[in-house]
Parts: sequence; C-alpha cells; structure tokens
Amino acid sequence: MSFSKILSILPNDPPNCLINKVTDSKDQTGHTIRQTDIFFFIYVSNHWKEDAFFGYQFLNGTNPILIQCCTQLPNNLPVTDKTVSPDGQHNLAEEIEKGNIFLCDYKLLDEVESNTINGNKQFLTAPLVLLWKNNAGQLMPVAIQLKQKPAEDNPIFYHSDSEYDWLLAKTFVRSANFSLYELNAHLLRTHLLAEVFAVSLLCNLPMMHPLYKLLIPHTRYTLNINCLAWMLLIFKGGTFAKFTSSGGEGALTILRSSLTSLTYSSLCIPDDIAERGLKDVPNFHYRDDGLQLWEIINRFYHYFV
Ligand SMILES: [Fe+2]
Repeated sequence: MSFSKILSILPNDPPNCLINKVTDSKDQTGHTIRQTDIFFFIYVSNHWKEDAFFGYQFLNGTNPILIQCCTQLPNNLPVTDKTVSPDGQHNLAEEIEKGNIFLCDYKLLDEVESNTINGNKQFLTAPLVLLWKNNAGQLMPVAIQLKQKPAEDNPIFYHSDSEYDWLLAKTFVRSANFSLYELNAHLLRTHLLAEVFAVSLLCNLPMMHPLYKLLIPHTRYTLNINCLAWMLLIFKGGTFAKFTSSGGEGALTILRSSLTSLTYSSLCIPDDIAERGLKDVPNFHYRDDGLQLWEIINRFYHYFV
C-alpha cells in the first residue's frame, strides 16, 4: 500500500509537519526503516488514547474478524446509559434499529486461566465492547464491560466516565484483543489451518494432480514455520508463554475454544462480511481489499480447474 493511500485512510488527518518529517532511514544494522513504519510509530503514539482510533482498529487493525453489527443487545450486557453520543442526541435503541451499533465480544477468553509470570498472576479479561457509528462514519466506543457475567464487581464503563477509568477500560480491551488475535486470527486461522491443508495435500493427492500443482508452492514453508512457532513461541519457555497473560495453559484453552467455534463460512470473506452485517460500514479497508483479493483468487482458481 502506498504511503499516500495510508495517509488518506487514517481516521484523523495527520499534521503536515509530521508527514514532512517522515522519510526512509537506516537502523544500526543498516536495514532500511520504511517511512510508513516510522509514520505509524509516531501516529499511534499521538493518537492511541482517542476513541476514534480505538474504534478504527476493530475495522483495520490486527483483528478485523471479530466486530459485528449489533441487532440486539446481548443479555449479559445490561447497559444502563442509553445515550450513545456525547451531546445526548442519539439513543441506543434507535441507533440499533438504524444498524449503527456494533459489538465486539471476547467470549472466547471467558474463564481462561491467566498466565503466571515471575510468580505474579497476570490479568486476562473477556470484554464486551459496544460501538456507535457516528454521523462522520467513525466507530466510537460507548460501553465496555470487561468480564462476561454481569456482577457488582464487573461494572460497565461508559464514554462519559472519567478520562482515566475509560482509558484503562479501553487498554484492557486492547490487551484482550492481542491475546485473541494472536491465538485465533493468527496462529489458528493462518498457521495451524494451513498445516492441515498442507498435510492433507501431501497425503492424499498424487504429484501430477492439477490441485497438487496449484497448491504445493503455497505450502513450501508451512511445516517449517509452524515447528519453529511451537518451539520458540508457544511451548513452555517460549516467548508467548514467558511474556503474555494468555501464555501457558491458557493459550491451549483459547485455541481449543477458537477451533470449536470456527465455521467454514467465517473463512470465506464474502460470507463472513455478510454474516457480520458489515457490507456498508465506511472505512472498512480490510473488507474492501479482502474482497478484491478473494475475487482475483477465485477467478484464477476457476480458470485453472
Ligand atoms: Fe505468522
């Protein structure tokens, strides 16, 4: 993606002085650091606290496969503040009716045993996040509940709460998002599923089969990188086990529940987007780019087969 396109899709206009400062450079080992990388470091450090950027990341951040249109409030999210806009003009029921309310539900992290690092029990939440699409087309978080079961010690945080309560609630969500993204979207749905297809291909199709010829180049490093991932990241003593709240036994629990909830249609981007009610959400570049790629691959496949 070009640098100018990246600038055009970010939720807030970056100041010109920042853009002008960003040029390719070299790190200490002589590798080129691209201007886009530098730009993102600076951009995120300037905008990470903002609600609009928080909402934007559910569409175009690391885990765009979780958000869905909310047609009915979940029973375990008893929202009491029914106002979704800071000016009090928009109410929750009406906005649900209009299709302007979205939900991110981290239920796959519910009751997962969190990791212990250096003798300290880590925090791992399973949040529910409600977002409102405002008149500018931005997704703004309006309510956050950090655990699944409503209870006195599980309050719902609102955008109208104090600045640091709200920021802390959003930070817990980002942390939960990291765990779910790494284990479900990344490890399971790319690495581990690819291994299933690779092994099946090697075991079941002769080398002269057209499907074998079509698929085999794409499996070239799959087994290799998965072995490395298990040894260096996931297993006891690996980076993920050593440093993350969802490492250790918790990682396996999350992988198991992610696999149980995985559906075939969720792997087919046109079906997935339709099922999640996201056909018309503005600024959803994951969908726009993904559908184009899907179409290209689909055309090629039909031509080949
Ligand atoms: Fe990877």
